[in-house]
Amino acid sequence: MASETDALDTSIGKPLVAADQNGQNAVEDFVDPWNVPTSSMKGVDYDKLIKKFGCSAIDDSLIERFKRVAKVEEVHPLLRRGVFFSHRDLHVILDCVEKGQKFYLYTGRGPSSDAMHLGHLIPFLFTKWLQEVFDVPLIIQITDDEKYYWKHLNLKEVKEMAVKNIKDIIAICFHPDKTFIFRNFEYMGHLHKRQFPNLRKGPRCDSELGPQTRKAHGLVVRKASNTLWLFNHSLRHLDIHSKISAYTSYVRPQLENATVIWSPYLKKDIDRIERVQKRFLKGLEGFRNLPGAVFFVGIPSNFQRQNNVPCLIPCGIDQDPYFRMTRDVAPRLKFLKPALVHSKFFPALQGANSKMSASDPNSAIFLTDTHEEIKEKINKYAYSGDRDTVKEHQEKGGDCSVDIAFQYLTYFEENDEELEKIRQIYSSGEMFSGQIKEILIKKLTRVVLDHQTKKKSITEDIVRGFMTPRQLVFDF
Ligand code: TYM
Ligand code: TRP
Repeated sequence: MASETDALDTSIGKPLVAADQNGQNAVEDFVDPWNVPTSSMKGVDYDKLIKKFGCSAIDDSLIERFKRVAKVEEVHPLLRRGVFFSHRDLHVILDCVEKGQKFYLYTGRGPSSDAMHLGHLIPFLFTKWLQEVFDVPLIIQITDDEKYYWKHLNLKEVKEMAVKNIKDIIAICFHPDKTFIFRNFEYMGHLHKRQFPNLRKGPRCDSELGPQTRKAHGLVVRKASNTLWLFNHSLRHLDIHSKISAYTSYVRPQLENATVIWSPYLKKDIDRIERVQKRFLKGLEGFRNLPGAVFFVGIPSNFQRQNNVPCLIPCGIDQDPYFRMTRDVAPRLKFLKPALVHSKFFPALQGANSKMSASDPNSAIFLTDTHEEIKEKINKYAYSGDRDTVKEHQEKGGDCSVDIAFQYLTYFEENDEELEKIRQIYSSGEMFSGQIKEILIKKLTRVVLDHQTKKKSITEDIVRGFMTPRQLVFDF
């Protein structure tokens, strides 16, 4: 069974200490949903991170067990190459598969830019493989509200971004009958309308969310002058995980300077959440406010009403804090803890000391880039593992552990032998980074252009189809 409590480290959000490239002068690694800098060109010290976060390493024996249980000869390259390097309770999911029981997959995206970059693709590529291997439902949450609240975008902008991003996600070829995609603004409103057709009758007050948002959210929170109204009917139909994130991300930061009028039902819930979270919230101070990335808002199939179908969440390690919180609270509210598999960061072009980020266009290859853009960015910015002089390079060989073109190939070159060949030739000093870049440019151009072709064929109707609340093809 799931461990009772995850390691809750109150220093979360504070810098992690890691050794620098020379193993000297401890420097600070800092990982949260917004920051991943480290001063080492080799990138974040993931072993330290595992300890710090209290998750577990994915080791060879777990991979062997995975193969046996999933009845596959080989696991996905991202798993066997250690990109998915850490987990929480993956063995619980495997136990369940062994017993012939089902689980579901859950992942998401917070649309903050028109285009997704290659880093965003990583959890989705792996999720697709998991869905194929286990034949399970997949729920994809688009937290457009998260970006609305924290990035100061307007509703129209977040909606447009959400739709563009959803097309990117669909273009990865998820199974239409087995996948449900929702965006928070829309789906919360939907749940709400269905449950409370007469809701408009609530007390009159201005909402700081604005009329449209208020409608979409179905009166989750309303604010009049200094009074915060919290309505049970809106939150009641969110599952517990969403309540937690809603409360933490949105309600709680506003409590300080407002008089709060609780509805009795909600108060009870919040008291419970508050109690179990107290410890955790303390540790989250460095996180400003946690935006809503936690769990689904009720899935339109039978298992939405069950709280005993296990959930596996593939995501980047930066998302772990959200789910750590969910995992801490879930058992006390009689929900199963979600299991997680975490990926390392797909590095920025400039080097593994930061993650690819949509806010710095030169750090990232976007799924909308042209061949010329890909070529130019890689040639111009990709950090090279070449030595300072040709002579030194030939003597010592190139350094694969920092060469970004090589690193990228470990994500996108599926053929192990091909990759190993490049590694050997480069490390022996026979090859220079420029040649790896050429191979990479070819590879990525194909990946990105294929993606664009698929994306073009995705119509509004197809998007609607994925986003329509419906029973998926499973009988649970
Ligand atoms: P977002 O949109 O920032 O990122 C989407 C997913 O991509 C991962 N990711 C990366 N993985 C590897 N290397 C990178 N450079 C990189 N950048 C981003 C993220 O970890 C994430 O898995 N709050 C979330 C959206 C969300 C979500 C979820 C994610 C809502 N529900 C459930 C995972 C599971 C967000 O803003 O992700
Ligand atoms: N954050 C929750 C989720 O992830 C629900 C939610 C989204 C919410 N936006 C909100 C709750 C705004 C209250 C206010 O689905």
